[in-house]
Amino acid sequence: MASAEYVSLSRTGDKMPLVGFGCWKISPEDAENTIYDAIKTGYRLIDGAADYGNEVEVGRGINKAIKDGLVKREELFVVTKLWNTYHNKANVRPSFDRQLQDLGLEYIDLYLIHFPVPLKNVEKSAAYPPGWYAPNGATAIEFERSPMHECWRELEKIAESGLAKNIGISNFNVQLILDLLTYANIKPAVLQIELHPYLQQTRLVEWVQSQGINITAYSSFGPASFIQLTEDGKSAQPLLEHEVIKSIAKKHGKTAGQVLLRWSLDRNVAVIPKSMHVERMQSNRDITSWSLDSEDHKQIKTIDRGLRFNNMDSYGFNLPLFA
Ligand SMILES: NC(=O)c1ccc[n+]([C@@H]2O[C@H](COP(=O)([O-])OP(=O)(O)OC[C@H]3O[C@@H](n4cnc5c(N)ncnc54)[C@H](OP(=O)(O)O)[C@@H]3O)[C@@H](O)[C@H]2O)c1
Repeated sequence: MASAEYVSLSRTGDKMPLVGFGCWKISPEDAENTIYDAIKTGYRLIDGAADYGNEVEVGRGINKAIKDGLVKREELFVVTKLWNTYHNKANVRPSFDRQLQDLGLEYIDLYLIHFPVPLKNVEKSAAYPPGWYAPNGATAIEFERSPMHECWRELEKIAESGLAKNIGISNFNVQLILDLLTYANIKPAVLQIELHPYLQQTRLVEWVQSQGINITAYSSFGPASFIQLTEDGKSAQPLLEHEVIKSIAKKHGKTAGQVLLRWSLDRNVAVIPKSMHVERMQSNRDITSWSLDSEDHKQIKTIDRGLRFNNMDSYGFNLPLFA
């Protein structure tokens, strides 16, 4: 079974590409050319965030591609995320405006709350983007009493203004989504979460989808982008070299990377792989004209380990966010 290349979002019916390009860990020096190459390769969804520290350059890559006639703005689907230090109702809109300005765009297609973690505000003049710790050598994260219902209302206002066509969430669990659905006037269009064969989260995926919320998987290659960041990233067997994944890849004449991405598409989950290499950008996109079979899915099911790499505890914060 092949699959569609887009999914329609609730409320707006906007078509979100199922295969997008991720911008985390692309240096500002590389970002403009990398995003330009990604668009040239055919990517139509760009997944960024204030926290990635490269929005100005990502925006330059997007605008250069538009100016050179590779693509029209309306053919692109630009995603970005509100950082934790801006959850207060007074800070959401100014932060969004800053991101829009940095990107050099007139609107965003999808604006997500990056994490359900309200951190103490950091003035943009002191540090931008500020990361998890307050500037000036703080050694622990500091929370702020900014309720999620107020933060979400601000995102709704941005959606009502048309400046963000769709709004959504990232790294939320079912308890928090259930609560959000009790007050939301606009339901989240998308939930973005870590998802790969070591962390399959089948019940979460199925329940969230049953609520009409689309899912985007991040870190589809499991530990690949965490090798330098965390102990788990370093010690886990690379998924790209896992024998189950490799044997399925061989059977279909595909690469391990393509199998890992197709595994999500088969579950109606969008993917946003990141690569600095054009050949990988191309092969990571080439996943819509074929699919895995039920035997492949059965085998992949057996390698679930509940292993999360984007785990706050493993960065040294005392925050069991997904407990
Ligand atoms: N919402 C959140 O909290 C959150 C968290 C993490 C990520 N994300 C988003 O999700 C995107 C993707 O996740 P990710 O960056 O963690 O990692 P990823 O896409 O799973 O993996 C990227 C790593 O895999 C390598 N790679 C890419 N394609 C490959 C291929 N075909 N074969 C072998 N290696 C390959 C890349 O190296 P090269 O670059 O050298 O090719 C890079 O080291 C991010 O960029 C970001 O936009 C969101």
